[in-house]
Amino acid sequence: MGEHIKQILEQAKQVIASCADELALQLLESRFVGRKSQLAGLMGSLGQLSPEERKTAGILLNQAKQEITELIEKKRAELDAIKQNMAISRDVTLPGTKPQIGHLSPLTYINRELIDIFKELGFEVAEGPEVETEKNNFDLLNIPANHPARDQWDTFWLKHVKDAEDNTLLRTHTSPVQIRYMQNHQPPIRIIAPGRAYRYEAEDATHSAVFSQIEGLMIDKDISVAHLKATMLHFVHRILGEKHSIRLRPSFFPFTEPSFEVDVSCGLCVGKGCKSCSHKGWLELMGAGMVHPQVLHNVGIDPEIYSGFAFGAGIERLTMLKYGITDIRLFLSGDMRFIKQF
Ligand code: FA5
Repeated sequence: MGEHIKQILEQAKQVIASCADELALQLLESRFVGRKSQLAGLMGSLGQLSPEERKTAGILLNQAKQEITELIEKKRAELDAIKQNMAISRDVTLPGTKPQIGHLSPLTYINRELIDIFKELGFEVAEGPEVETEKNNFDLLNIPANHPARDQWDTFWLKHVKDAEDNTLLRTHTSPVQIRYMQNHQPPIRIIAPGRAYRYEAEDATHSAVFSQIEGLMIDKDISVAHLKATMLHFVHRILGEKHSIRLRPSFFPFTEPSFEVDVSCGLCVGKGCKSCSHKGWLELMGAGMVHPQVLHNVGIDPEIYSGFAFGAGIERLTMLKYGITDIRLFLSGDMRFIKQF
């Protein structure tokens, strides 16, 4: 009889656990512990057993009945709680619970804004891979191996074998997108290329090893520094506001000649000089210049016919300037308190 009681108990446990409504639970209650249940039947047949067997079987039957009754009570309480919750959730006068949803990064907002501004000027968006060849990232941009300018871009190498043709790296800037695009398109060219760049350098409030840039490139007949300057001024006015002015400072990049640093007047002191611009009145915004004839030659565009300008701006720096953010590391911190402010 012990084995039979055990089977009944196991079966009861299974069906009670999967029971999902009150009516079904009532039926289970009468099936397992009611007057006509199997347990009741066994209870009635105890008289046919010897006194010793009767005692053992009686204890087992009572234990099984108690256990099943407790399981049914527990299930009934669970079903009651579900019913109550459903009643509450049907009460349309109660305030709702707002689901937690994600939030776009301020960098995404700025990127979208930049794309819109340049699209209005007839620029297309171009893309390139973050894992680049040494050739595109350096050589074709007129930065051969051993050129001292390579030190400007501390590099995460993926494959770096001396004189190998297939060395790869994490691109140190978005300028290789220029090369990829010019290799496959003839002028007139007007593109922007937003994307990530990587540099093996110490991080601080204004330097990150992983950051974003936006590259710009315009190639056509008779393009001059005047076009570069007008485009930069329009870009700064649209993104930071009309009160800002820009200045071009002579600089050096192997892939542009002449080269400039484009500075923007400080948003706080509007060019007068304050703590946030180190009393200079100007903040460095991007590198730019007229595309070097050698670079045009490298990609099969005749520098005797065509000329153009290029620029590369740091998107985090631009965003910091726009919103007064003082530490670049906040962008990748994953801190929702920071992200939710935008
Ligand atoms: C370049 O990367 C050039 N490719 C830009 C260029 C393009 C020049 C086309 C001429 C023509 P540079 O290393 O100065 O230049 O970087 C450009 C911008 O990227 C900087 O002005 C800055 O805003 C941003 N930047 C550079 N390094 C970091 C860094 N570690 N963290 C955050 N932003 C950075």
